[in-house]
Amino acid sequence: MRIIDGNAIAESIIEELANEVGQLSDTKPVVAFIRVGDDPASVSYVRKKQKIADRIGIESRLYVFPSNVCKEELFAQIDELNKDNEVNGILIQAPLPEHIDETETFNRVSHNKDVDGFHTLNIGKLCQEDESGFVACTPAGIVELIKRSEIETQGKHIVVLGRSQIVGKPAALLMVRKALPGNATVTLCHSRTQNLASITCQADVLIAAIGRPNFVTADMVKEGVCVIDVGINRVKDVSRKSGYKLVGDVDFNAVESKASQITPVPGGVGPMTVAMLMHNTLRAFKATKIRSFILMLLLSLRPN
Ligand code: GUN
Repeated sequence: MRIIDGNAIAESIIEELANEVGQLSDTKPVVAFIRVGDDPASVSYVRKKQKIADRIGIESRLYVFPSNVCKEELFAQIDELNKDNEVNGILIQAPLPEHIDETETFNRVSHNKDVDGFHTLNIGKLCQEDESGFVACTPAGIVELIKRSEIETQGKHIVVLGRSQIVGKPAALLMVRKALPGNATVTLCHSRTQNLASITCQADVLIAAIGRPNFVTADMVKEGVCVIDVGINRVKDVSRKSGYKLVGDVDFNAVESKASQITPVPGGVGPMTVAMLMHNTLRAFKATKIRSFILMLLLSLRPN
C-alpha cells in the first residue's frame, strides 16, 4: 500500500508556480478573497490560501463581510472587483449564509476571473470538454494527484461518492471525459443510492466526497482499490488543544490494508485544492495579459 502524499505533490506545484511568477517582469497576479461571516473553517481556509499566494508571489486581497450582509452590498463588491483591472481572480469562500443564494453569487463573478470554476459558463465548458474554462480547484486537484501518482484511469471503474456542485459532479465529469487522466467508466453515488456498498466494492478508484466522517468502511471497498478521500471533517478530540481532529470520509485505519494507494486526511486532497487555486490564478493573469495585448493591437490597427 502506498500513501499518496498530497503535501509533497502540492509543494512541487507551488514551487513550479513560484518559479513562473518569479520570472514575470512587470506586474504580478492578484487574487481577491471574499469571506462572509466568521465560520472557523472558512477563516482558516482563507488564511491558508493567502499564505500560499504570498509564498508564490501572488498578491491577495481580503474582503470580509458580516454574516448578515445584504445581497446588494455583497454584489456591489463583486461588481467592483470584476471591473478592477488589477484583479485577476475572485474567490467567494463557501458556505455563504442561508439568505444569500450561492449559485447566483458565484455567477456574479466575471467568468474570466472565476478561479473557483463555479460559474455556470465554466461548468458548461467542463461538460463540453472545452479546456479554455476554469475547473473547480478540488476536482482539479484530484486530477493532478491521480496524474502525478500515475494512477491508471482509462477504462477503469471510478466511483464518486457525493454529488456536490463543488466536488462530486465536476470530479465525475473530469473522470468521464476523453482526456487523461479520465476516460473512465464513472458511477456517481449519493445519499439516496441503494445498495451503495455493492457499487463501491466495484471501484478501481473510489473518490469519497460525501462529507461524513469515516463513512467508507473496509467492507465497502475491494482489494487493491485506489482511494481518494476528499472529506475534511472536524470531529471532537478532547486530547487536543484545539478540541478537535480532522478525519476524512474514509475510515483510513480500516481501509488502508485493502487499498493499493490511499490519500491521508489531512495531507491528501486538501493541500492540492490550494495549489490548484494558485494555478488557476496564474492562468487568469496570463489570459488577461493576452486579452489586453490583442486589444492594444486592434486599437493600433484602427484607422485614424
Ligand atoms: N468551501 C469549501 N471548498 C471551497 C472551494 O473550493 N471554494 C470556495 N470558494 N469555497 C469553498
